[in-house]
Amino acid sequence: MRDDNPGTIHLEDYRPPAYQISRTDLHFELSEDCAVVTSTLQLQREEDQSKDSLQLQGEQLELLSVKVDGRELTGEEYRVDDDALLIHTVPVRCAIECRTRIRPQENTALSGLYRSGGLFCTQCEAEGFRRITYYLDRPDVMSVFTVTVDAEQRRYPVLLSNGNLKETFVLDESRHRAIWHDPHPKPAYLFALVAGDLAYVEDHFRTASHRDIRLRIYVEEKDLDKCGHAMESLKRAMRWDEEVYGREYDLDIFNIVAVDDFNMGAMENKGLNIFNASCVLCNPEVTTDAGFQRVESIVAHEYFHNWSGNRVTCRDWFQLSLKEGFTVFRDGQFSSDMGSPTVKRIEDANLLRTAQFAEDAGPMAHPVRPESCIEINNFYTLTVYEKGAEVVRMIHTLLGAESFRRGSDLYFERHDGQAVTCEDFVRAMEDASGVDLTQFRNWYSQAGTPELDINDEYDASARRYTLTVEQSCPPTPGQSEKPPFVIPLAMGLLGREGNLALPSSERIRQTEIGNKTHAVLTVDRLRQSFIFEGIPDRPVPSLLRGFSAPVRLRYHYSRDDLCALMRGDSDGFVRWDAAQSLAIEVLTEMGQQVVSGESVDIDARLTSAWVDLLNDDSLDAAMVAEMLRLPSEEYLAELASRRGGADVDLIHQVRDALCLQLGRSVQGDLLSRYGDLAIDRPYKPDAQQIARRSLRNTCLSYLVSSDAAFLDLATEQYRAASNMTDRISALRAIAFHGEDDLRDGILENFYQNWRHEVLVVNQWLQVQAAIPDDQALSRVEALMSHAEFDLHNPNNVRALVGTFANQNPVNFHRSDGAGYRLLGSVVTELNRINPQIASRLLLPLTRWRNYRGRKDMMRAELERLAAQPDLSPDVFEIVSKSLRESAPARMN
Ligand code: TRP
Ligand code: ZN
Repeated sequence: MRDDNPGTIHLEDYRPPAYQISRTDLHFELSEDCAVVTSTLQLQREEDQSKDSLQLQGEQLELLSVKVDGRELTGEEYRVDDDALLIHTVPVRCAIECRTRIRPQENTALSGLYRSGGLFCTQCEAEGFRRITYYLDRPDVMSVFTVTVDAEQRRYPVLLSNGNLKETFVLDESRHRAIWHDPHPKPAYLFALVAGDLAYVEDHFRTASHRDIRLRIYVEEKDLDKCGHAMESLKRAMRWDEEVYGREYDLDIFNIVAVDDFNMGAMENKGLNIFNASCVLCNPEVTTDAGFQRVESIVAHEYFHNWSGNRVTCRDWFQLSLKEGFTVFRDGQFSSDMGSPTVKRIEDANLLRTAQFAEDAGPMAHPVRPESCIEINNFYTLTVYEKGAEVVRMIHTLLGAESFRRGSDLYFERHDGQAVTCEDFVRAMEDASGVDLTQFRNWYSQAGTPELDINDEYDASARRYTLTVEQSCPPTPGQSEKPPFVIPLAMGLLGREGNLALPSSERIRQTEIGNKTHAVLTVDRLRQSFIFEGIPDRPVPSLLRGFSAPVRLRYHYSRDDLCALMRGDSDGFVRWDAAQSLAIEVLTEMGQQVVSGESVDIDARLTSAWVDLLNDDSLDAAMVAEMLRLPSEEYLAELASRRGGADVDLIHQVRDALCLQLGRSVQGDLLSRYGDLAIDRPYKPDAQQIARRSLRNTCLSYLVSSDAAFLDLATEQYRAASNMTDRISALRAIAFHGEDDLRDGILENFYQNWRHEVLVVNQWLQVQAAIPDDQALSRVEALMSHAEFDLHNPNNVRALVGTFANQNPVNFHRSDGAGYRLLGSVVTELNRINPQIASRLLLPLTRWRNYRGRKDMMRAELERLAAQPDLSPDVFEIVSKSLRESAPARMN
């Protein structure tokens, strides 16, 4: 049975377009109250089409006139409704000219042509182009665009679009014109236009084939000092894509524009990437190390789309992971090459386990290639992006680096200029490598996180070690039974003397992951055993090295096993994972002690492991910082939700108690390491300095949580800080642990110093939204009325309301339900202003089944939303899907 929601679109209903548009000419007349757009489309009907009517998509457009081959149509010859223009008959080949009026000034959804400050800018992915003019707004219609922009010279000296600038001229004493031409055929979602008063920094890149590319980053004049890092990152990304994928840039210029109001991180429009200012602007004064890394990876991500997305694009939006999964994989390889591979892998695994696994276990679970949707904007998800990247990474692991590269070369060559599917990608990988990926394809079609249950047996007399692996996958909406996945399980065995060399066999391959050789077991049946001969003693298995697959793994490690892995495994991810598992065990035990009223004590093995970590300066400091970070409350809640429901208050209480205890037990070690890690050289966001600051600030945070006396140390660091990383770490420590006066004083001081920098104001909002004290809710409410806060600005909303709902669990889940009501009312308002942001903000409520003692209140809030009149499709889809019967739904 099919989903009976109105407006549901299904992958299986895909039909090729009835017409192609070889050329698209757009003329924009921009003014202060509206924009008039004239589009001329060279259209031809596909040969297999018999109908001679033409339907073009369009939303929120005022149609002024429509002509076919130069003749204006009369009212009887066409029909206009809310989302389309239907022309009853058109010739096989013709030119369609539409004049429409749009109102960018009133466009608060930030999709289509809109205003951000004094700028005109566009965002067309996924279906925003239809808010600019009537069009075949689908990615398999690719056209060569020529764009003419007319605007007032004084307000909009800079006029940009895709491709190359052909001409500029003065129209009259006040207006001027620019004409842009993009020679590469592209779908409408890659169209972009910017008009405004912008300054730029310029640089150049020489390609491998010696072409000179002019690079520019356009920003407001005041931000010219924040472009250096993005420019350097761009050049590194361009070089890397040549070296690692053999991909060169294909236009003579490459432009980036920063805008303040943007729904996502950035957009890969051909030759004219548009960025959320928070993802491109940075300097040490205003940006943290994490911010520098984010800029580098997003600049690279958007640049890499030029091949994985633009030259080869998606056939339909269900194939979104074709470009996003692959490009996230590529930017991850790049970041890994530029920084610390182990830490990058830990961050990825953490994000996946905390947030993507939760998505995959919840009411919005969907395959990497979804099969149906109401609103495509709701499918820019962790599953499509992050799990999609893991799927590509598993192909890389299964094929090996060389075959994978042959596969990507074949894919780009075979499909250059085409709009293709995930299937085409997998087939290119198969054809180039000879590896059969038939069963592997289940990763694209089956939702849910696979679970591996592993048992082992050691036969001392035969010196034989056997691992038995069972896989299963819980039901998800519309999918109850799931045939087995192909899961590359990288592993090793830790013996008394260290890691054992493992023999290869048909099922046990040796593979390089992150420069280290591991055995990779190909797990592809519901249950199977792997036998290792010649093993001298019972080993400790080191499993899922490098997080080789996005799965949950269960094996009964003793705490001593975990300590052995933490200390001695050759794989950084496994060491970190063992530390997490040990901490989770200790936290669980403490939780039981609290519930049963016993006295709470912590396992001495954890403390002694910490002492070792803090005192071993041969270890990568960034990895040590990750190992000392306790599992987040969000992750602990995700785990608990699978064991009968999360008790947020208990999780918070126990985790806090462990921070305090650990901080006290290893205070001396924390303090001396804090001292040793000081940096006396000028700030650089390089791997080495980032690692030191990360560990040093981790030490500071434990010190402050263990004893109020260390607030002075934090205050000193705040005053002396030469960069935002150190300053905001100290600010956070004080805001979380200081008494009211100290906290309010320092927050006010920070605000007064940085109120002129919007990006810093957002960090200031973020810190406050996350403070776990009992004034959090009223603090957030007060900040929503602050002069700096604007509900129309997505960065503000994410920093304040998003942080509150996602990173302040005890307050979002207040027992009186006030946290839910706050979110519900913000979502209600945003539903009118910006549906994309509203439906994203709403996601924490969709996990209502996970919370013990809160389910009813959370569901009631969703029901209140469901009863709102005029729900956008975005919000409607999330609300209605989270309220439907629980997970094991009927077959589709
Ligand atoms: N394609 C963009 C990326 O690189 C995603 C994106 C940017 C987007 N802005 C958007 C998606 C607006 C939907 C709506 O990931
Ligand atoms: Zn992307």
